[in-house]
Amino acid sequence: MRHLICLVMLLVLPLAGAALPRASEPIGETGSQNAERVRAAFLAPEAAVEAFEALASFPELLQERPLQIKLFRSLASKKVEIFQAAIALCLRVPQATQFAMIRRRFNLSFVGPDARKRQSILELALAETSFLKDLRLVSLVSEALSATDPTLAKTALSLVREEKWMQRLPAIAEALSRSTKSLYSAGLKLPDVAFFRNKVAPIFEVQGEDEKTCIDCHKGHPILRLKPVEPGSKAEQTLEHYRASLRVIDLEKPENSLLLTKPLQEAPPEGTYTSGVNRHGGGIRWARETPEYRTLLQWLRPAK
Ligand code: HEC
Repeated sequence: MRHLICLVMLLVLPLAGAALPRASEPIGETGSQNAERVRAAFLAPEAAVEAFEALASFPELLQERPLQIKLFRSLASKKVEIFQAAIALCLRVPQATQFAMIRRRFNLSFVGPDARKRQSILELALAETSFLKDLRLVSLVSEALSATDPTLAKTALSLVREEKWMQRLPAIAEALSRSTKSLYSAGLKLPDVAFFRNKVAPIFEVQGEDEKTCIDCHKGHPILRLKPVEPGSKAEQTLEHYRASLRVIDLEKPENSLLLTKPLQEAPPEGTYTSGVNRHGGGIRWARETPEYRTLLQWLRPAK
């Protein structure tokens, strides 16, 4: 029996040795050799998905410019499996998206025109549900639920069936109420559409000191996506803005809603990684006593 185990080990070990290393292996000479191998595998012209996976264990390598460029390019790869591996890397290693060019392309990936690519992101979430902590993904799921592409809609639906907690998210609940004719009614009372149309939507069109409106900056955002209002389609656009707003609200604690708190924050210093700190890329837009803030709070916390 022992001979048999030895034989099996002899057969398996060389194979294991060929796999790309993980950071959990000892640091020191082997550690830097491992990093060297991961770097080389990732920079290879036809880098395989495993190289992206291995890189997630060596996030410090992403400080290097050639690796950043490779990741940037991979986010636009025509090969869906490479695109998907690049997205997974960005979701696993948030520091990767501290670089403006990578962050921009990463954000755009969630709203791109290629349904196969959006589908590949949903499949990532099916395989690793911790990715659903990212609001970009939740937003994508809420949009996919009513997508015309049947595969996208089906995958999104199976996700929210598995992950029941999602059904209580306002944006998902609203999308479900349209796509499945309230099959999964979470019993949520969604904030009022008429109040939104009359009082909230106009706020998104008010210029700040920099002469920018929320819409100016938020046209292509993966989360609070505020497509500009076109003449003649105002009602539809307002509904779109309503749906986008549902992704950044907290009905239990309205004052914690990103929709209210983001515009209270300063812009993050250029080139810094501010995970866990609430900063707003667009800088301060209002204070707690400004009418806009109060109107939003009123919308989310109607008089009982
Ligand atoms: C000058 C550009 C700019 C303006 C104007 C702006 N924002 Fe933003 N906003 C950003 C950027 C960049 C981010 C993404 C980075 C971050 O999370 O701060 C962001 C993020 C957000 C988020 C988090 C969700 C998301 O889409 O990333 C919310 C909510 C938000 N902004 C609300 C607002 C509201 C409400 C207004 C108008 C009162 C506004 N913003 C105006 C640039 C802007």
